[in-house]
Amino acid sequence: MPSQQWSHTLSSYLPWTSPPLLISAPMGGFAWAPLATAVSLAGGLGLIGSLNDMSQLRTQLAEARSTFAASSNAAIKDSPTLPLGVGILAFICKIEDVVPVIREFEPAVVWLFAAKQLDDYTAWVDALREASPTSKVWIQVGNVEAALHVAKDARPDAICLQGADAGGHGFEKAAGIISLVPEAADALRREGHGDIPLLASGGIVDGRGVAAALALGAAGVVMGTRFLASKEVAIHPIAQAAVLEAQDGGQATRRSKLFDQLRGPNVWPEAYDGRSLVVQSYQDHVDGVGLEEIQRLHNEAVLGEDKGYATGRKGRAAIWAGTGVGSVGKVEEAGNIVEKVKREAREVMGGLAKL
Ligand SMILES: Cc1cc2nc3c(=O)[nH]c(=O)nc-3n(C[C@H](O)[C@H](O)[C@H](O)COP(=O)(O)O)c2cc1C
Repeated sequence: MPSQQWSHTLSSYLPWTSPPLLISAPMGGFAWAPLATAVSLAGGLGLIGSLNDMSQLRTQLAEARSTFAASSNAAIKDSPTLPLGVGILAFICKIEDVVPVIREFEPAVVWLFAAKQLDDYTAWVDALREASPTSKVWIQVGNVEAALHVAKDARPDAICLQGADAGGHGFEKAAGIISLVPEAADALRREGHGDIPLLASGGIVDGRGVAAALALGAAGVVMGTRFLASKEVAIHPIAQAAVLEAQDGGQATRRSKLFDQLRGPNVWPEAYDGRSLVVQSYQDHVDGVGLEEIQRLHNEAVLGEDKGYATGRKGRAAIWAGTGVGSVGKVEEAGNIVEKVKREAREVMGGLAKL
């Protein structure tokens, strides 16, 4: 059973984690040191969200290092690497800017996403491995073709398969994890890449989702939207209220490139769109309002105290969230979320084993 071997591989370099492996997503601008450290201290893997400014990333990593140093958690203190991960958006950052930070802080994991071209990852992986041989490099992709491509060329230490239900940016052409994970796992095995551990993300918000992802063949699970309702996340209170209020994720959220055009020209690589709560800007787009007018109203609204966020779908700014949002109803400490979701997953798997 490859996922058992993968779990062994992953726990060998994430020794403070306990199964099932839960990972908080590197939500750029939302997941800072307080969230990442809380998740790792609870036995998960916390990721710091993608940042463009390397001095900001250094500050976050220094804060995380002192939080870990002050902790009495022996597994965290004994970790040979900084026991968290760092998200990097490969289309924005430059390898030469990122490498010195990774060399200095040696995070357990460097997570790469959204390269302009899939071929670009090879240079990233090589440079990061050379700079910090103890750090592992993971890549998130959204379809089988991309998984095969990066497995063959870049040879990452793990691949996260991001399903179409995911909040935030993702592959425009993607399936949900229920189809994506098994098909990608079979294809990778057939092509001789069955040694690369697979993780799953997209729409997973509780122990049932974790158990399902593990049953599909993933060795661990990445959750973003669930942590938008954590005490440690850096989110505007009105945006968080909108997340808590949203029900029926298939109707409350939508994937669209419009969300990346609200501020001006879309800078994301062609293959990507993003999933946000349905907001007034999107409704206007459906109703035929022109892009320029939508942008004007958006850019006016974000200058306000509420930053363009509102509940009741009335906001103008995007509120990135996945389809699992309807099951996210209250704000909890990130550590409690990790423990609770793991417990639920074990209960679900125990129940299924009796069938
Ligand atoms: C608010 C938000 C911001 C995100 N920002 C990033 C990011 O900066 N870099 C990245 O690799 N993924 C980002 N993601 C996507 C996550 O990596 C992950 O695929 C997603 O959260 C999983 O789906 P879920 O939100 O349904 O759990 C973001 C997701 C959300 C919800």
